[in-house]
Parts: sequence; C-alpha cells; structure tokens
Amino acid sequence: MKIFYNREEVAKAVKGLKTAGKTIGFVPTMGALHEGHLSLIETALKQNSIVFVSIFVNPTQFNNQEDLKKYPRDLNADVEMLSSLSECIYVYAPSVDDIYQDQVVSDNFNFNGLDQAMEGKFREGHFNGVATVVKRFFEIVTPDNAYFGKKDYQQLLIIKKLVHLAKIPVNIIGCDILRESSGLAMSSRNIRLKPECKTAAPFIYKTLMSAKEKFGTKSANVVTEWVENQFKNHELLKLEYFTIADTETLLPAKRKSKQKQYRAFIAVYADNIRLIDNIALN
Ligand code: PAJ
Repeated sequence: MKIFYNREEVAKAVKGLKTAGKTIGFVPTMGALHEGHLSLIETALKQNSIVFVSIFVNPTQFNNQEDLKKYPRDLNADVEMLSSLSECIYVYAPSVDDIYQDQVVSDNFNFNGLDQAMEGKFREGHFNGVATVVKRFFEIVTPDNAYFGKKDYQQLLIIKKLVHLAKIPVNIIGCDILRESSGLAMSSRNIRLKPECKTAAPFIYKTLMSAKEKFGTKSANVVTEWVENQFKNHELLKLEYFTIADTETLLPAKRKSKQKQYRAFIAVYADNIRLIDNIALN
C-alpha cells in the first residue's frame, strides 16, 4: 500500500503506472471505511492492476454544516484497514486546498433533472458538489475503471451522466449494496446511531422488502401510501421520503409499465442521523 497527500505525487505515480502498461481502478470514498467500501475495493482489485482509493470528506456536497462537522473521520484506522487488504492499493488523502485551492465552491452542471429528484430535492446543491469533486479526482487519477455503490443509486446515475457530458474516458461500474446481518445497509453514519436507533433501523429494509412484495400486485401510489403509514407513528424513525421511480430517469412511477424497471428509494431520520436505502422492484 502507498499513501499520497497531494495531486503532484499522484500524477507522478499514475504516469509511471501507465508507462508500465498497468490498469488503474478508482474507488472514491469519504473514509470511515466499512465492509460496504471494502466490497467495492475488492471488486476493483480483481479487475485492475492498481486501485486508487481516495479518502476525502468533500465540503461542497454537504448542505448542512453540522453534518459536515460531525462526519466521522479516522484516517489512521482507514489506512490500517487498507494496508491489510493488498499491496496494490494506493490511498489518496488530499487536503481541501489540494482539491479546491482557495475556492471551496462547486462547479455548475446540468443533469437534466436527474439531480432534482429525491436526494437533490432534500439536499440542495449536493450533486453539484459530488460531481465537482469526482470530476477533479478523475482528472488527477485518470482511472480506467471507477466503482460506485448502488447504496447511493442516484449518485451512480449522476456520475454516469457526468462522464457522458464531460466525455471522460472511464468505465463506471455499479456495485451491489452490502448489508449488516439485520438488513440495515452499511453506512459510515451507522456508528453514530444510538443503541435504540440501531435496533430500530433494520425496519427500513424490512419495509422496503414488503414494499417490493406489494408492488407485484399494487400500484406505486398504494404502496407509497402503505409505506408512509408504517412510519406515521414510529417512535424513533421519521420518514423523509419514499419514492418508487424508473431506474434510468428516476421519474416517479405513475402507471406501471412491463417494459420498465423500477426501484424504491427511501430516506429516514433516526434521531438526527439521516439514513438512505433502495431496492430493485422488478
Ligand atoms: P461514501 O459515502 O464514503 O461512499 C463511497 C462509496 O461507497 C460510494 O460509491 C457508496 O455508494 C459506496 N457504499 C457506501 N455504503 C455502501 C454499501 N453498504 N454497499 C455498497 N456500497 C456502499 O459516496 C461518497 O462517499 C461520496 O459522495 C463520494 C463519491 C466519495 C464523493 O465525495
């Protein structure tokens, strides 16, 4: 394992790798690594000679300063975890200056509405921030393949769109969601859950599974109403949104079509911790 702290060092290493004909995989993360991240890295290791893992809590994608401040950070623990995995991992842990110089602002992108639904609606500017940082990482690391989790499904679609719009020569690979044995989707935020919230949180995935079953025979509206009712009187979990949408356009499913693929998306607050999850419906 190697670790780099600035873009010049990364560019130099990348040049050497390319000259030697090595393929480069890339897994961007915000650290506080868990098995969900590791599953992306393991897939990338199988498909590339070297895998760059970035660890960077990106300020421009947080619309809530408190959330940014409280985001868990432990670079030493992350590096230790990665060093036990493989020698072929190159960590890039830049400073805010290295990525943004003195202008910590997002670039503006036009994602044609893809960024307005769901997460975009509740986290203004979030996807411009994500796209800004990922585009900069792509320019520095110049990977052949880059790996993103379906846990952040809307983000995965945004990155595919970004690569298309900006004509960036990289394959984007979507990876399945890793879950705890309770069904709760793994997340860096889970360690901040109070014990009673941790116990309650698997209800999110259970509800998604039931929604999937109901969607076999019922309309999107009926299923949505049913899910909203499940959370109405919940003591600990507060539903922010539940949406059934087309997997490509993310437009809400009004009338079901056999030709289309749908997913259900959910965001829930457990205390002040925001959890998201999603599931394929057909
Ligand atoms: P972060 O939340 O650290 O996630 C890094 C990557 O790990 C993302 O692609 C995310 O979808 C994936 N991931 C997280 N939990 C997962 C799980 N349980 N199963 C599978 N994959 C999972 O997403 C970000 O960081 C940032 O927005 C980033 C892309 C790094 C830009 O700042």
